[in-house]
Amino acid sequence: MYQDGKLWIARSVNGEKVCIEPEKANRHGLIAGATGTGKTVTLKVMAESFSDMGVPVFLADIKGDLGGMVAPGRDSEDMQARIARFGIEGWKYQSYPTRFWDVYGEYGHPVRTTVSEMGPLLMARVLGLNETQTGVLNIAFRVADENGLLLLDLKDLKSMLRLISEQAKTLSLEYGNIAPQSVSAIIRSLVSLEDQGGDLFFGEPAFEVKDWLQTAFDGRGWINVLHCVKLFQNPALYSTFLLWMLSELYELLPEAGDMHKPKIVFFFDEAHLLFNDAPKALLQKIELIVRLVRSKGVGVYFITQSPTDLPGDILAQLGNRVQHALRAYTPSEQKKVKAAAETFRPNPEFKTLDVITQLGTGEALVSFLADDGSPAPVERCFILPPQSRMGSISEGERADALAQDGIGDRYDTPVDRESAYEILAARAEAAQEELEKAAEEKQAAKEAAAAQKAAEREAAEARKEADRKKQQITKKAERITSAAAKSATTSVISSTIRRSTSKKLGVGQRAVNSAFNSIVGNVGREISGSIVRGIFGTFSKKK
Ligand SMILES: Nc1ncnc2c1ncn2[C@@H]1O[C@H](COP(=O)(O)OP(=O)(O)OP(=O)(O)O)[C@@H](O)[C@H]1O
Ligand SMILES: [Mg+2]
Repeated sequence: MYQDGKLWIARSVNGEKVCIEPEKANRHGLIAGATGTGKTVTLKVMAESFSDMGVPVFLADIKGDLGGMVAPGRDSEDMQARIARFGIEGWKYQSYPTRFWDVYGEYGHPVRTTVSEMGPLLMARVLGLNETQTGVLNIAFRVADENGLLLLDLKDLKSMLRLISEQAKTLSLEYGNIAPQSVSAIIRSLVSLEDQGGDLFFGEPAFEVKDWLQTAFDGRGWINVLHCVKLFQNPALYSTFLLWMLSELYELLPEAGDMHKPKIVFFFDEAHLLFNDAPKALLQKIELIVRLVRSKGVGVYFITQSPTDLPGDILAQLGNRVQHALRAYTPSEQKKVKAAAETFRPNPEFKTLDVITQLGTGEALVSFLADDGSPAPVERCFILPPQSRMGSISEGERADALAQDGIGDRYDTPVDRESAYEILAARAEAAQEELEKAAEEKQAAKEAAAAQKAAEREAAEARKEADRKKQQITKKAERITSAAAKSATTSVISSTIRRSTSKKLGVGQRAVNSAFNSIVGNVGREISGSIVRGIFGTFSKKK
């Protein structure tokens, strides 16, 4: 709840208001706890407060239970009791300006990006490639980038891979080995990604992350809910999508230093997936980007069961923490509880380690950053109830929200503008035409040669006739015969040159060369200069 210029999230058991300071909200955060302990409700309360403060938020909705943000909360005896206990003045149930998004375009506006924009590092993660295959994928991107060639969707990437495979000999000299097995393996991964509907994510219109930075007409921040129920079934795509978003924001936003409130706050549910099986190089980049994005006014809040699910370097960056109950039945659980307790600044009034396992639903251990930037001592708290509805919404309510949020015109209709695949297909067609033209020319030359022979035969016969008639032929007839012989010689020479040229340059090779040169020439006109990539290897859009 936004009150007196602060984000009021909880009340301590001693009756104190526990608030996030707006200027500390970009210092990232953590919401942890076992299943059903109140993490999603805490996230809602935070998101509502940010929206009321005019800060847009992004939420990954994995269970489909965040839709209720768009509707006012429902009154109940339990809620009345909670509101009275918190002593909240001026309480009202209210809906929030909510935009729904969905990679698959079923439960929200489609979110798409282009293969070029995602870049090789994240693409390799989506495709689950090994090091060698990643190397080959890098080459495909480099050849495309250096020639300003746009890869919009998966079919573009496939065409590009086929092209580098065909040109492997030449390209290997400059870029390194392009093993056909690696190309086949990447294409197999691409096909499997398509089968899972991943191709829907790649294409146009590409999503512009600045559209998540908007406020609604009433000044409240838009709550952008990404429907992840299906996306989450492909953890690699889910986690890569979130990383892509973060890197987009990082590339887009200028350095802002300390701001009085964040520009946007992200809530990443099931955050451990961002780091599971991530190669070391990627992990380092995630840590780096999480650190750097803060000074661009972006707050990132990770939601996960136990703080130990996150790498230590990330955990150390999370200044605003809410720890719901954890269970401690097994030795491994006890270890996690101990580690979670140690992340808090102790409070002499209670033992953190003991309390973590005693917390009820909607109760939590809370520590937010104080004015001076140090973490406040941990407090045992009750989290405020949300003002919007807890739980999901009906299809009708979702449809109404989608129709009224003013962004559908931009994203709802896919476009397939000319890109690598189309250009390569056009080139292949042109090469085929060239082949046919060459065959036609050959046939024409054959026919011309035959006509020539016939003319020569006729001329010889005419000469014989002339001899036979012994000097009965006039001077005019002799001139005609000599002109026919001269033109016959010229045609024979030109057809010989044509035959020898097409022998020297194989027609197939000629077609590939001309296809490659033309693609490069064509697309080079579309985007001037080569593509510049950022930390994650995504497109840099900075001008
Ligand atoms: N602060 C709160 N105020 C009112 N009710 C709450 C609060 N926190 C939790 N609850 C109740 O507890 C239920 C479970 O909470 P929630 O869905 O937030 O758990 P969770 O930790 O997100 O669970 P999961 O890990 O399964 O996603 C809610 O549906 C709600 O009824
Ligand atoms: Mg939840």
